[in-house]
Amino acid sequence: MGNNYLHDVLIIGSGAAGLSLALRLPSEIRIAVIAKRSLREGNTLYAQGGISAVLDKQDSTEAHVADTLAAGAGLCDEAVVRLVVENGPQNIHWLLQEGVEFTREDEAASSSGFHLTREGGHSHRRVIHAADSTGYSVETTLEAQARSRKNISLFEHHIAVDLITSSKQGSSPNRCTGAYILDLETELVNTFNARIVVLATGGASKVYLYTSNPDLSTGDGIAMAWRAGCRIANMEFIQFHPTCLYHPKAKSFLITEALRGEGAYLKRPDGSRFMPDFDSRAELAPRDIVARAIDHEMKRLGIECVYLDITHKSADFIKEHFPAVHSHCLKFGIDITCEPIPVVPAAHYTCGGVITDQRAQTDIKGLYAIGETAYTGLHGANRMASNSLLECLVFGELACQDIQRELTKIPAAPAAAKWDESRVTDSDEEVVVSHNWEELRHFMWDYVGIVRSNKRLERAKRRLNLLRHEIRWYYGNFRVTNDLLELRNLVDVADLIIRSAQRRRESRGLHYTIDFPQTDDKTQKKPTILIPDNYSPGSSE
Ligand code: FAD
Ligand code: SIN
Repeated sequence: MGNNYLHDVLIIGSGAAGLSLALRLPSEIRIAVIAKRSLREGNTLYAQGGISAVLDKQDSTEAHVADTLAAGAGLCDEAVVRLVVENGPQNIHWLLQEGVEFTREDEAASSSGFHLTREGGHSHRRVIHAADSTGYSVETTLEAQARSRKNISLFEHHIAVDLITSSKQGSSPNRCTGAYILDLETELVNTFNARIVVLATGGASKVYLYTSNPDLSTGDGIAMAWRAGCRIANMEFIQFHPTCLYHPKAKSFLITEALRGEGAYLKRPDGSRFMPDFDSRAELAPRDIVARAIDHEMKRLGIECVYLDITHKSADFIKEHFPAVHSHCLKFGIDITCEPIPVVPAAHYTCGGVITDQRAQTDIKGLYAIGETAYTGLHGANRMASNSLLECLVFGELACQDIQRELTKIPAAPAAAKWDESRVTDSDEEVVVSHNWEELRHFMWDYVGIVRSNKRLERAKRRLNLLRHEIRWYYGNFRVTNDLLELRNLVDVADLIIRSAQRRRESRGLHYTIDFPQTDDKTQKKPTILIPDNYSPGSSE
């Protein structure tokens, strides 16, 4: 039998979103932070390019807002964009206070005193960074701070299974009162009761065969929220990063867009550039355009990758600005100072997610969602580079303010029933899980990838229905394991992606289908909202 825990705030996820919220909450609040691997493992740790914020005198809030809206292809919520952009600089200052070291520059060259890089879609230099390891600096700094706080209890190698809601326990209105969480070391499912629960579980790009994300990005928060009764929006908008290292032995290594920001060219194997043929912004067009152009060239020429070339810059410049990319590529025998880098697109960012308001509240009272798991309206149909760490921080702060207000009104959560394992046994065939995992990621890549069609989506849907059936049966009969839980979540997320893609009968931003190649502003200029059967409107009031 598992243990029972009681906290004021339960934060599931320890990336930039989860940790920044935990650190901002006052020290008298008892907080549990849950991480399914080590505390630092997650997308945040691998972020390279940086964080966008208006820090330079030449730049302006209006320009950052306009660039974000343009990248979002008509689907951003302008009020949210403004809110995030306006709160950008103060959040960078908060990170500096916490001890994050960003790359500095002579004040004569940059009015902010920091080196600001450029990335696709940005009309100004506004991406503050720590060389090409921004995420490492942010995550390890926040980790060290969190480990030193007495009011924060850290539960590493614990995976959340499902949310506990009061409607499941027979009372209304629906309210989230905790989560069932599997301790991966003891293999016990513990009951975490809390007055407030926050999903900060990151994205879902692992649903695709090729991804820049670490293995844990399996959309758990999105799937748990959906099953609990939250609406989910815009899941068709999966961002494919144009440039991941192409090498048989290099698992998911991103080549930061900042290389293109600093002048790198995309080339065909014969050395000719192709981006100017696709967009006047060439290599600095938004990611959807660059990724589709690469996909087009790869299919047209029957090639396995294209090349990213920065060799026209000095070796000193390259090593100073991109030390991690330089040393990582060297491990695979590629010296980026004198040879082009083989690259391919890969699934990178989940623009859709759990619908929240401007306080980070979801549809269920007491349940918040922040970071990549959430859909706030910031990104619309395409996220502009380096806007997501910014969103993690800004919504972490907004959630912090709201949670403090809410805690004054909410009594301690009633202890939920313990996890019932009386009707399940240990699995006899783990191969079912590993086989289905592989199959899912393959067909999502082939049929629901960069270029879609009605036929491909229909094929994916048919295969998914079989898989869902099998996984439900498996879940109902066998004891839960990490792999089974992740696969169950991936299957739910894949279903949300396919259904959203089928609803969108146009091409817009990251969603491109050969059956509707045009953008249809008349009938389709709105987010895709999926509503679960157990949704009860007004339960967050
Ligand atoms: P994450 O950092 O992914 O953290 C998720 C957390 O949730 C982890 O602690 C994990 O253990 C936990 N978790 C998940 N499921 C469960 C569960 N079931 N139970 C318990 N815990 C769970 N964005 C930028 O703005 N700038 C960049 O330069 C940039 N570069 C990037 C480079 C790479 C290679 C990648 C992959 C992404 C990049 N991004 C960048 C995107 C950005 O890093 C992410 O969107 C952001 O870090 C997400 O932060 P998060 O806190 O929401 O989630
Ligand atoms: C990159 O460094 O190219 C990633 C930036 C991002 O995803 O925002």
